[in-house]
Amino acid sequence: MNKKIISYAVIFVLMLAGVSFAQSVWWKLPPLPPPEIYGNIVIDRASTQGGVKPATFSHWSHRVKYTCRVCHYEIEFNMMINTTMITEEANVHGRYCGECHDGKTAFGHTKENCDKCHNGDIAYGTKKFVELSYLPSLPNGNKVDWVKAIDEGLITPRNYLRDDAKPIEFERIIEIESPWAGISPVIFKHAVHGKWLDCSNCHPEIFSVEAEATEELAMEYILKYEFCGVCHGRVAFPPKDNCKKCHPQMKHPGKDMQQAH
Ligand code: HEC
Ligand code: HEC
Ligand code: HEC
Ligand code: HEC
Ligand code: HEC
Ligand code: HEC
Repeated sequence: MNKKIISYAVIFVLMLAGVSFAQSVWWKLPPLPPPEIYGNIVIDRASTQGGVKPATFSHWSHRVKYTCRVCHYEIEFNMMINTTMITEEANVHGRYCGECHDGKTAFGHTKENCDKCHNGDIAYGTKKFVELSYLPSLPNGNKVDWVKAIDEGLITPRNYLRDDAKPIEFERIIEIESPWAGISPVIFKHAVHGKWLDCSNCHPEIFSVEAEATEELAMEYILKYEFCGVCHGRVAFPPKDNCKKCHPQMKHPGKDMQQAH
């Protein structure tokens, strides 16, 4: 065999590897809750222990009014359920939920309101979900195209609670090449994310501050809620039926892979 044939053979084997890998990825797409529950959580780090029902929280109902930055940067809620030290004491003193739930901006921490949060019901407040039906749609997740909703001025969530600063503008677009043959590159836009998030929500814990330097960045982990999947799968739109959002040149996402199986 001459060198040329060997290199073609190598490319062919790599392509097969790419396809079978993609298949296994396709079949591991995690199940999704209905749109009105997507991003809803029931927090129980300390509630049950403290003799009250777990606290319900809905991302869609809050993100209409506040960017992620307000809660996950200013107020310092972790992007991981049951890890923030939220207590009744802190809330009553204006920390955490109490930054807004003070009886002025939103209902306060008084006896008649305990159950509005401590009801253990992940579907609490979903009757109001129809109020979002005027927003542009996207498959799965909340079925809301949150990017268009902001760009078209249909919602104007606050950037900061405590001051009037403008978020840092950073427009760098990153093209992340796949090591797998036949998979189109991922296009990551800082500008889109900057409308919702602070730099520190992603750097340095989730992503390297250097293009193509994040190790093990792959679909398998994204579907396990790591890397892009920290948000895309739990609060921001999930991968299912949205492949082309991140892989804009992918030809027949999903379909090819289902047929190949
Ligand atoms: C705006 C929502 C909200 C309201 C209103 C609220 N809580 Fe909470 N509370 C929370 C959250 C969130 C936590 C943290 C839950 C966890 O980690 O389990 C919490 C935690 C607690 C805890 C467990 C931690 C601790 O401090 O011991 C108790 C007990 C508690 N709340 C009691 C109350 C009582 C009593 C009321 C009404 C007077 C009340 N809460 C009103 C959201 C709320
Ligand atoms: C009004 C406050 C608030 C806003 C706004 C908010 N979050 Fe959260 N988020 C929370 C709280 C509270 C938790 C739970 C923290 C805990 O239990 O330790 C949470 C948890 C999360 C989690 C983990 C969920 C899980 O199932 O483990 C992710 C991911 C997340 N947020 C992403 C976002 C993104 C992305 C945005 C913006 C689109 C956003 N959040 C906006 C308050 C908020
Ligand atoms: C950045 C401000 C802000 C923070 C932080 C915040 N909320 Fe709210 N929340 C609001 C506003 C505004 C409303 C709507 C006004 C109202 O109902 O009084 C609301 C409404 C709610 C509702 C009622 C939803 C409905 O459909 O009736 C619940 C439940 C709730 N919040 C729980 C929480 C819990 C639990 C936390 C903390 C983990 C929290 N919120 C943190 C601003 C906030
Ligand atoms: C939130 C963004 C995002 C979405 C949505 C998304 N991907 Fe990916 N995907 C990535 C990133 C980042 C990588 C890793 C970098 C690369 O390989 O280009 C990747 C890599 C891949 C790879 C290469 C193998 C691997 O695991 O790295 C395949 C195949 C793939 N994605 C298929 C899909 C399919 C099919 C869908 C839709 C069901 C999808 N992706 C949706 C971000 C996304
Ligand atoms: C939603 C997540 C996210 C947010 C928020 C974010 N970045 Fe990034 N950033 C990334 C990813 C992903 C990469 C590419 C990493 C890789 O390819 O390994 C990156 C890469 C970078 C790079 C390297 C660029 C290059 O060409 O080498 C810089 C610099 C950077 N980010 C700065 C910032 C700054 C400044 C902010 C806030 C204004 C910010 N980032 C906010 C996800 C984010
Ligand atoms: C910290 C949370 C977070 C992480 C991590 C994150 N994103 Fe996002 N992303 C968002 C939010 C919030 C939006 C707004 C849309 C939504 O919520 O559905 C968004 C929107 C997008 C969009 C839509 C752009 C448009 O023009 O409509 C793309 C594409 C995207 N993200 C790709 C990625 C890729 C690729 C990665 C990983 C390299 C990533 N994101 C990591 C939170 C995140």
